[in-house]
This record gives sequence, C-alpha cells and structure tokens, in this order.
Amino acid sequence: MNILVVGSGAREHAIVRAIERSPKDKEIFCLGSNVNPGIAELCADLTVANINDTHTITSYAKKRAVDLAIIGPEKPLAIGAADALWDMDVRVVGPRKDLAQIETSKAFTRDLLTEYNISACPKYKTFSSLGGVVEFLSELGENFVVKYDGLAGGKGVKVSGDHLHSHDDAKIYCQELVEKGGVFVLEEKLIGQEFSLMSFCDGENLKHMPAVQDHKRAYEGDTGPNTGGMGTYSDGDHSLPFLTKYDVNQAHEINIATAKALKNKFGDGYKGVLYGGFITTADGVKLIEYNARFGDPEAMNVLSLLESDFIEICNGIADGRLNQVDVRFKNKATVCKYAVPEGYPDNPVKGESIDLSNIENPDSLFYASVDVHNGKLIEAGSRTVAVVGIAESISAAEKIAEKEISAVGGPLFHRADIGTDALVQKRVDQMKSLR
Ligand code: AMP
Ligand code: GLY
Repeated sequence: MNILVVGSGAREHAIVRAIERSPKDKEIFCLGSNVNPGIAELCADLTVANINDTHTITSYAKKRAVDLAIIGPEKPLAIGAADALWDMDVRVVGPRKDLAQIETSKAFTRDLLTEYNISACPKYKTFSSLGGVVEFLSELGENFVVKYDGLAGGKGVKVSGDHLHSHDDAKIYCQELVEKGGVFVLEEKLIGQEFSLMSFCDGENLKHMPAVQDHKRAYEGDTGPNTGGMGTYSDGDHSLPFLTKYDVNQAHEINIATAKALKNKFGDGYKGVLYGGFITTADGVKLIEYNARFGDPEAMNVLSLLESDFIEICNGIADGRLNQVDVRFKNKATVCKYAVPEGYPDNPVKGESIDLSNIENPDSLFYASVDVHNGKLIEAGSRTVAVVGIAESISAAEKIAEKEISAVGGPLFHRADIGTDALVQKRVDQMKSLR
C-alpha cells in the first residue's frame, strides 16, 4: 500500500512514525516543504515542493500510485486538497474544503454550533463593518476577543488584557480588519484552562484521543508573543489534572455533536481528525476553536501513546468503518517540548547549525523546521525540534523531556516550565478558585 503524507514538520514526523510502526505492508511517500531527515529516513521518497497547490499534490499522488493520503497541515485542506485527491480515487484522512471551514472560518464554526443548538459558544457576533461594534463591546464589558475570520497562523486573534487594553484598542484593530476587507468575530473572553481534545472521525463514528494541554506563549510563565505551541503534556488517565470527568465527557459530546451537524449540513461526513480547542470555565466546557487536523505538538503526545495500528485507523476513517477499528492509547503521561530558534517567533535566527549528538533517545526526537545544507542540519526559522518524555506521571515525563531538549545544541531556546509540578499545580489551583 502506498501512503502519502503531506507536510514535513514534527507533526508529520510523528504521523510517519506511527505509519511505520504498523505491521502492514506499505511504502511511505512525503510531499513536504523542507528536508526533514527524520521523515526522509522512513520514506521511500521525500519531495520538497509547494504543498499549498492542489495540482502539485495530485500530480505527486498519481506519480507514486498513492492509495491513501494523510494531510498534516491546514492550508492544503483549506484549498481543497482532499477534494482533488478523492476525485482521483485516492482515499484521504483530512476533510474536504467545505468541511475544513470548521478551522478556516471562525464565524462558520460559531454559526454551525448555534444552528445545531450545541451550547459551547461564548456570546459572539460577526461583523464586516464597524456598525454595531461599539454597542456589542459595551455589552461584553471588559472581557472581549476580536478574531479575524480566516487562517492567520495564530496571529488573527487579539484578546482583552493581553493584546487589547481598552474598547478603543479593540475598535482600532476592528478598523484594521475592515480596511483589509475582512470579516471578523467579536466575542466574550472566556476565563479558565484551555485543552485540546482530538477525535478520529469517519464521517459518522468518532474515537477520542487523550486530552492534551498546549502552551501557546513563547516564554516561561505564559508570557511573550503567541506561537504555534511551545510544548504540551498529557496524563496517564487521558484526562488532565485540572479537568473533571464531566469536562472530558462534555468535550467528547461537543465533538460528536459537531461531526453530526457537519454531516447534516453537507450530506458528506467529516473524515479526519476533529481537533477541539476547548476551555473549561466556571460555567462548564466551551469551544475556543476547531482545527481540521492533528495539533502540533499534540500529535507527538498522542501518537507516541498509540498502541493500535495507525494504518488500520486511517483506513477506518477513509472507508467509514472506524466503529470496527481498535483505537487504544497507553495509560502513560507524556510531556513534549520544542526547541525554537533564538528570536522566535518575531525575528528568528535562520541557517545556524544545530547539534543533536547528545540526545540519548533518538526515538523521542521529532524533527520540525530544519533543513539540510551541505550535509549539515540547520535551523529553518520556525519551531526546530521537539522531544517527548513518556513516564508514569507528568512530573517524571517532564524530567525526561527537559533533559533531552536541554541537550540540543545551537542558538535555540525552550520553555523549561512546561509540565513541571509548579506549572501544573497553578492550573489546578486556578480551576479550584473558579469553581
Ligand atoms: P485561536 O487562533 O482561535 O486558537 O486563538 C488563539 C488563542 O486566543 C487561544 O488559544 C486562546 O488562548 C485565545 N482565545 C481565543 N478565543 C478566546 C475566547 N473566547 N476567550 C478566551 N481566550 C480566547
Ligand atoms: N497546537 C496548536 C495547533 O496545532 O494549532
């Protein structure tokens, strides 16, 4: 079986590893945007090309006689890569363009949940001009969020208290978005702890993955600019120390209801990974956003724990028979940490060489934004390499991850606080005081 993975970051390295572990006969092909040596080593071919072009993807799939494609990042989904592949009879893990709107349009997602009475939204309104903005800001008071209604690489969201310090600041940002010709969503700022709950979905059936917490801020203590995610942790019981059983159940129910709503709206089911970005609040679990793919770094946590055959799961998703597939994860805790270039995310150094010779366990290392120049491994400017520690407790997994990520040489930095007892306790205490 020829399997195509689109994308070449650490998430895709985790996907390729999971495919490789399957006992099934397979050849893996990767269409990526950089030379990822971790992926290259496991694939029959890794070709670097423009992965945000459907024709490039379909031509490559044809040339390699691909049977099944797994799409890592959101952009190819947003431009209809899944549709184009299905049209040539390649089965796909990753939703069609219409269904990928769950990630590409914040307004679409809020409206879908409202239309289908899925009560997980904060107060919100969609705007394409400044008309009504002042009135809605007054209704929201101090707690508001302005979101650009499209893909913005995590940079389109501005939150009161963090990025916006008054209604005037909010109006200026809204005006900026209007001038760009953009639609935006203004919504209530929710207070609580965020977590990611991803589910495999075959259009009808869902199988849920362990809950994970990401850390979006660049610096320790959750300070500094927003990033793609600096690190993540998950716990042995597949919940998180600050979540109740009821919270996890609510997140499952919201994913199930959303998949059903999508099927009802489009006739066609959502086939792929449905990634709910949730927040647990004093008022229960609410949805911050949906993503139409595996999270990065979340994929490294959950796929490192996956005991079942990943190819079988992907076949189940594509063929609509996930209910017949065994999906099991080890009951262990994981901590994933990224090393990123100095200056990341605003002014990252690029092209400097990195040294991985002191890594103890190469199986725990995931290559991300790296490239190979003249035989040397260099930083390509974004999150560079990740490591995952796996142990009986978050605390023990953190120590493993911290030791390994500290051993990476080069002009890089990481967040030493992710997964530490002190940081996890802070999350638990916040939820205790809110509840
Ligand atoms: P997004 O790009 O939608 O993932 O949003 C980026 C970050 O903005 C999220 O991870 C949250 O930390 C924050 N955020 C977005 N919407 C809200 C909200 N309604 N309340 C509080 N924080 C939010
Ligand atoms: N971990 C955040 C994301 O994948 O979007």
